[in-house]
Amino acid sequence: MARPDPHSYNDDSQVATVSFDLIARIDFEHRTLHGDVTLAFREPAAVTGPLDLDTRDLAIDAVTDAAGQSFEYVLHPPEPILGARLSITLPAGATAVRIRYRTAPEASALQWLAPAQTAGGKQPFLFSQCQAIHARSIVPLQDTPRLRVRYTAELEIPQNLRAVMAAAHRARIDAVDTVIGMAIERFEMPQPIPPYLFAFAVGDLASRDLSERSRVWAEPAMLEAAAYEFAGVEAMMLAAEALFGPYDWERFDVLTMPPSFPYGGMENPRLTFITPTVIAGDRSLLGVIAHELSHSWTGNLVTNATAEHFWLNEGFTVYAERRIIEALDGPEAAALDAALGRRELDQAIARFATRPELTRLRTQLAGIDPDDAYSQVPYEKGCFFLNALELVVGREAFTAWLRRYLEAFRFSAITTDDFLGHFEATFPGALATVDAPRWLDGDGLPPNAPRPQSQRLEAIERLAGALPDVAVAKQWTPVEWQIYLDSVPRPASLDLLQTLEAEHALTASTNYEILVAWLTLALGSKMRSVLPRVEEVLGTVGRMKYLRPLYGALIAEPATRDVATRLFERHRDTYHPISRQLVDGLLRAATAG
Ligand code: BES
Ligand code: ZN
Repeated sequence: MARPDPHSYNDDSQVATVSFDLIARIDFEHRTLHGDVTLAFREPAAVTGPLDLDTRDLAIDAVTDAAGQSFEYVLHPPEPILGARLSITLPAGATAVRIRYRTAPEASALQWLAPAQTAGGKQPFLFSQCQAIHARSIVPLQDTPRLRVRYTAELEIPQNLRAVMAAAHRARIDAVDTVIGMAIERFEMPQPIPPYLFAFAVGDLASRDLSERSRVWAEPAMLEAAAYEFAGVEAMMLAAEALFGPYDWERFDVLTMPPSFPYGGMENPRLTFITPTVIAGDRSLLGVIAHELSHSWTGNLVTNATAEHFWLNEGFTVYAERRIIEALDGPEAAALDAALGRRELDQAIARFATRPELTRLRTQLAGIDPDDAYSQVPYEKGCFFLNALELVVGREAFTAWLRRYLEAFRFSAITTDDFLGHFEATFPGALATVDAPRWLDGDGLPPNAPRPQSQRLEAIERLAGALPDVAVAKQWTPVEWQIYLDSVPRPASLDLLQTLEAEHALTASTNYEILVAWLTLALGSKMRSVLPRVEEVLGTVGRMKYLRPLYGALIAEPATRDVATRLFERHRDTYHPISRQLVDGLLRAATAG
């Protein structure tokens, strides 16, 4: 027996699931999903033997064959990172297993929102977030990206709500055949996916078409603004297809999430999830859409075999995202994004000073929770590595190779070695030229990392944190603002900060990227007048990209540390389980150190 994925109980000598059929009743009152899932195998079990599934916090009620004949099973005690192994004894020839179960109210993949936490304020909301290893808290399955599955799902939901899923919608059944007050929504996922891409949401949702193959979903109060912001999605899809080949998932719909969504975006196939913080009113933060769309090729088609090769998902996707931005907005815009990425990478490497092994591209994560290993390293170091290779072989040849790589590995899961083999076969010697082993298995960033080139970047760097000319700064994009604010040495003089505030009203900014960069600088410079705005942000938004620097700055300063504690106490129950874990960790590290 062998367990090829350190984050799954999957044993590759056992049968593999190829599809599942899920029936689930969504119980908002008890924050429980009552599930009935049938897993179908690739081939009948050859001999009597165990099948190990991943579960977390699931109550198992019955394990049978498709006809209801019981199978023996053991639900093992939970382990901290993996969860509980469900070991089922299959009779020889078994082709499927059916499991009835219930989720826990604290299921790590789910956030149950009270009506007050939504834009409309009247209806509850539920959404899932399965990457990296949370799918097992909603469905018992082989929760490893090595195994792809197709699925059908039937969700029973309150009739005044709507369900959306990262799958094709097949039917909605109201009243007839359903419990009073409930409706059924049916979905089918025709393309095989790794389990971390299983996703759905239930709430008061409305939609608007953006093009023939794209629509935006949002709470009614947000729909207008979301439709305006994302109007350019089809143009972005065309740019992506011109670069990477035909879009393989039929639809690219966008779901505008509640503000507590812990990520900027999540590339759930056919239905990308996007934080509402990108709705700035001026379409200035669409890099997140370019990123999630890019995953339709890099990640969703060509998938990392385990979280240890996560850079294959994210590094390639950042590379692809910047190619789209370059095609649509020009090379200056892409270079500025890369320059900001470089700053974020340097900060991530500094944060991992005591765990340098997590600054490698190829990681070893046995005993490590992927959520704890998460950083900008696989994103930005991964992208810079690809940039370095591109510089050696040339843009045209690199792009042609990328298309062949996507074609060769589509709908499969690969490791870093698979990538290396394919690249070496196309460009013998190129990997050695950039010292690929240093990039992949070395700590930090190699000295030969390419430097983003941009005139606008140089203009900001020349300022060296001094006050910019008002008229010049008025023309800055959010990325230029972030690079500038980030470059101001801390603590900044109150004089500088007050002039910036007087000239640009940064505390009132409704652009979250600018706002959070500003508030972080202000807190790091003891400018206490921003505290009410910081409290407002931390009480509204759950995106970890913003929680981390803001809580971090509050905690770093002894005078505001108790503000952080108090805010977390007040909001912890309304934060997503993953965001809660992040802030909890920041506070613990502060009290321990
Ligand atoms: N797939 C990630 C989000 C993710 C990664 C969730 C790992 C759980 C575990 C998504 O594509 C992503 O990278 N989002 C970024 C967007 C950014 C790079 C534009 C984010 O949320 O910050
Ligand atoms: Zn990503």
